[in-house]
Amino acid sequence: MSGSLIVYIAPKGFEKELLFELRALGIAVLEQRERLFLCKRAADLNAQMIPAWAQNIWFEPEFIPAPSINHVVKSLRARQRNWACHPTMYFRRSLLIQEKLPKLKDNIPWEFGTPLPEIPPSRRLGAWTLWREDMVLASPVCSSCFADGELLFRENKQDPPGRAYLKLWEALTLLGKFPGAGDIALDLGSSPGGWTWVLASLGAGVVSVDKAPLAENVAAMPGVEYMRGSAFGLCPHDFGQINWLCSDVICYPERLFRLIMQWLDAGYSGNIICTLKFQGATDFDCVNRFRNIPGGKLIHLFHNKHELTWLRPEFP
Ligand SMILES: C[S@@+](CC[C@H](N)C(=O)[O-])C[C@H]1O[C@@H](n2cnc3c(N)ncnc32)[C@H](O)[C@@H]1O
Repeated sequence: MSGSLIVYIAPKGFEKELLFELRALGIAVLEQRERLFLCKRAADLNAQMIPAWAQNIWFEPEFIPAPSINHVVKSLRARQRNWACHPTMYFRRSLLIQEKLPKLKDNIPWEFGTPLPEIPPSRRLGAWTLWREDMVLASPVCSSCFADGELLFRENKQDPPGRAYLKLWEALTLLGKFPGAGDIALDLGSSPGGWTWVLASLGAGVVSVDKAPLAENVAAMPGVEYMRGSAFGLCPHDFGQINWLCSDVICYPERLFRLIMQWLDAGYSGNIICTLKFQGATDFDCVNRFRNIPGGKLIHLFHNKHELTWLRPEFP
């Protein structure tokens, strides 16, 4: 039975979005426990079958008898070293088990700029939950190397204005690519300047566009050029070399889609990172339109709110 199962973990507060996507993808949900969805594994697990709202995916879940705490610890340790608990029931017992497993301190908080490691099987992070008092559901292989997919950074509380910079840190970390000296980034909807701060700190030149101003310390950074105005009034042909097209503009996702298509139709093939911001109900039609753009990836970042991030690395 276990080879036919898969578990999806929704981001906090976005269970409905994940459920909608699972249904739309034709994935059968066998049981939902809060943010955890135990599902029938699709025969073909290609990229199109990865829901954007899954913050972590347990690829190889199996049920393991749990007659005692020590037995669970032994069973999990026999499979691999690192395990993170996602409790949905039996919280006290879960804690007692997790306390007897090796401490998870290797990657928390994550230092921005550190590339995600190629994790050898011996250092992988598995996930488990007490499904019944005497039964564990555990998966040694997960989509994220962070517990519940939560990428917690060592934050910079001094320089960037606001906390939006954490979204770009996370997107770049997951993309596995960072802008650098010689790159030019266009940052649309940039005020107060968190993303511009990230891009300029990495050494890129930044054209930073917003109707609202940048924080003074960001506006004064070397390589930052501020343009006051609307992102939608710009024409791709107005710019020379752009290597990173970034947008965190507040707008309907459909409007963002048209803006991105304008750039792609104009032949833009550089890196793209943009935030789809939903107001009210999630616009799943537009989510699908983004999903269908070749070479892109749609994800709900840990630092996203009612948003998704669409990433596309430089496209050949
Ligand atoms: C979430 S904030 C961006 C935060 C920014 N990424 C940061 O890290 O500080 C969204 C921004 O979109 C801007 N915005 C809204 N409509 C815009 C438009 N048509 N053109 C440019 N910026 C726009 C708003 O002024 C606001 O500053």
